[in-house]
Amino acid sequence: MQTSTNQLYFGDCLDVLRHHIQSASIDLVYLDPPFNSKANYNLLYKEPTGKKSAAQVRTFQDTWHWGPDAAAAFDNILESRTPAAGIVRALHSFLGPTDLMAYLTMMAVRLIELHRVLKPTGSLYLHCDPTASHYLKIILDAIFGPTCFRTEISWKRQSAHNDAKQGRVQYGNIRDVILFYSKSERWTWNWLYTPYDQRYVDNFYKHVERDTGRRYTLSDITGPGGAAKGNPEYEIMGVKRFWRYSRTRMDELISAGRIVQAKPGAVPREKRYLDEMPGVSLQNDWNDILPAGGKESLGYATQKPLALLKRIIEASSNKGDVVLDPFCGCGTTVHAALGLERRWIGIDITHVAIQVILDRLKKFFPGEHPAVRGRPEDLEGARELARRDKYQFQWWAASLIGGQARGGEKKGADRGVDGEMFFKRGHNHFGRAIISVKGGDNLSPSMVRDLAGTREQENADMGIFICLAEPTSQMKSTAAAYGSFDEGAYPRIAIVTIAELLQRQSQLVLPPHFDTVTVRDEARKRGPVLKPPTQAQIRREPEFMLSISAKARTRQLLLDEPLLVAEHRPTTRLLRQKVEGPAFHQRSVVEQRPLGFADSEEEFGAERLTRKRGRR
Ligand SMILES: C[S@@+](CC[C@H](N)C(=O)[O-])C[C@H]1O[C@@H](n2cnc3c(N)ncnc32)[C@H](O)[C@@H]1O
Repeated sequence: MQTSTNQLYFGDCLDVLRHHIQSASIDLVYLDPPFNSKANYNLLYKEPTGKKSAAQVRTFQDTWHWGPDAAAAFDNILESRTPAAGIVRALHSFLGPTDLMAYLTMMAVRLIELHRVLKPTGSLYLHCDPTASHYLKIILDAIFGPTCFRTEISWKRQSAHNDAKQGRVQYGNIRDVILFYSKSERWTWNWLYTPYDQRYVDNFYKHVERDTGRRYTLSDITGPGGAAKGNPEYEIMGVKRFWRYSRTRMDELISAGRIVQAKPGAVPREKRYLDEMPGVSLQNDWNDILPAGGKESLGYATQKPLALLKRIIEASSNKGDVVLDPFCGCGTTVHAALGLERRWIGIDITHVAIQVILDRLKKFFPGEHPAVRGRPEDLEGARELARRDKYQFQWWAASLIGGQARGGEKKGADRGVDGEMFFKRGHNHFGRAIISVKGGDNLSPSMVRDLAGTREQENADMGIFICLAEPTSQMKSTAAAYGSFDEGAYPRIAIVTIAELLQRQSQLVLPPHFDTVTVRDEARKRGPVLKPPTQAQIRREPEFMLSISAKARTRQLLLDEPLLVAEHRPTTRLLRQKVEGPAFHQRSVVEQRPLGFADSEEEFGAERLTRKRGRR
C-alpha cells in the first residue's frame, strides 16, 4: 500500500486509514473529531441576496451510543493486547457501557491507526474540549507512551458570554483543548513567535534612539557566577568585572556602538533593539486566534480558523511534509497545508464537507485539482451509494451539476428538494433552481409534476430532476410542457440522468451559477455577515438543529462502519476520480461557468507570526 497525497477521501477515516495509508508515511496529523457534544451540526447556507437560505443541511451528528458495534470495537482493542487495551478496559469498568464510553472506544481505534501511520519524527494534535479531553489524554498516553506527551494547548475559541438566562450555573466555557503528542523523543519542531505585548514594550524597551527612532533596552552583560561559571574577567570603559562575552566579542560590540555607559564609572550595558527581537516564543495559551467568522466563514458550523491550522502546521512540519486530517470538515487543514506548501490528505464521511472543500480550493487554489476517492465513478458505484446512504447519494448527485445540498432526515421538511443552485439573471437579480434526486427504480410523471408544483410554491426559476433510472417518455413530455424562461434559454423543468452526467452526455443547459463558497461571497457583498453559531446557540436554537430521528438515536455503531452515518453499511469501494468540475461541462450546449470572486488568500485568516526552523 502506497500513501497518495494531495487527495481527498469521502468515507470513514477508519476504513481509509486501514486500507489506504501506509505505516510511517505521515509527518503531521491534526484531528478535530466530533466532541461528543450531543449536538447536530448544520451547514448554514446563504442566498446571494444576503438572506439566510432556507437550505440547511445537517453535516454530522455528534451523538454516540453504546451497543453491539461499540462493543465490537471495544473487543477489537482488547485483542490488540497493547497498553491501550489496558486503559480502555479500565475506562470501561469505570464508565460502564455509556455513550461517553462509545465515543472513547470509537476514538481509541482511530487513534491507534493514526499512531501507526505517523513517521518516527511525526506529531499528532488532537483538538477536543473539556467534555472528554481528560479521558482522551490517558488513551493517547497509552498509545503514544506518556513520555511522548508534549503539551496541552488551550485555545480561546470564543469571547466571554453570559448564559445565566439560559439557566447556566457555571463558569463560561470558552476554551478548546488541543493535545499535542510526538511519535518519538525526536520530533519536527519550528519555533514560532508572537509580537510583544505593548505594555511590555513600553516598560522594557523604553529608550528611543534619537537619530534612528529605534526602540531599545539596556541589558546586563556582567557574567553571572563569575570565574566559577567560566566567565572572563577584564576591564572595559574603566570598569573591571566578570563579563558574559569574551574579550574579542566585547571589542566587536564596543566598536559597533552596542556597549554604552550611562556615566563615567557606571557598569557598561548592551543596547538591544526591539526590531531585532523575534518576539515572544509561542506558549501553550492561545488567546490571539479568533473563531472563523466574517469573511472566513463558509457556513460550516464547526469550521476552525485558518490561523490556528497555519500555526500548528508551521510549528510541526516543514515544506513538502505530509499533513493528514482524518476529520477534515470544510477543509481548513487542507487549505492551510496547501498555502504552506505541504502535501496533504483530507478525509470526511459526508459529501457535503467534500463539496465545500472542493469549492474552497477552486477559489483559493484555482490550479489545484485534487483527486477525490470514495465518490461513485460509475453507475454501479452510484447505485451502491444510493443503497447505502440515501442522503449522501442525493447530495452527491446534486453536486454533479454544481448544486448545493439541501434537506436531511427530517421528513417532509424540504418537500422533496434535495439541492438548490443560485445563478445571476442580471444586475442585482438572482435566479434559483431547485433539485430533486431520485435513486429508486420506479419513476413516474407525477414526480415531475410534484417538482413543478414545489418550484412554483418556492418561487424558484427552475426545477431539475436527477434520476438514477431512465425516465419514461411520458415524464419527458410532462417536463417539456412547463416551457422555458429567459427567452427560451433554459427549461423550467429539466430531467437528467446520473448516467448522462457521469458519461458527460447531458444536454442540460444551465445558467452560470454560484457554488457553496462563491454564493457566500456574493451574499457578503449585500447583506450582514452571518457569524458562525456558538456552541450554546447550536445547543439551544432549533434553527441550527434538525431533530435526531428515532432510528439514529438507537443506532448501533459497528467497528467497520462510518462513525456518524446512520443505517447503512460502510463504504465498500473507494474509487479514484479526478475532479474536473460538474461532469456535463464538456457536452453541454452552453458552456457552464461557475461564478467566482477571487479574494486573496492573504485576506483569509492572515496572521502575524515569525518563525525559526529546526529539528529537535
Ligand atoms: C468538527 S468537524 C471538523 C471541522 C474541521 N476542522 C474544519 O475546520 O472544517 C468533524 C468532521 O468529522 C466528520 N466525521 C465524523 N465522523 C467521521 C468519520 N468516521 N470519518 C471521517 N470523518 C468523520 C464530520 O462529517 C465533520 O465534518
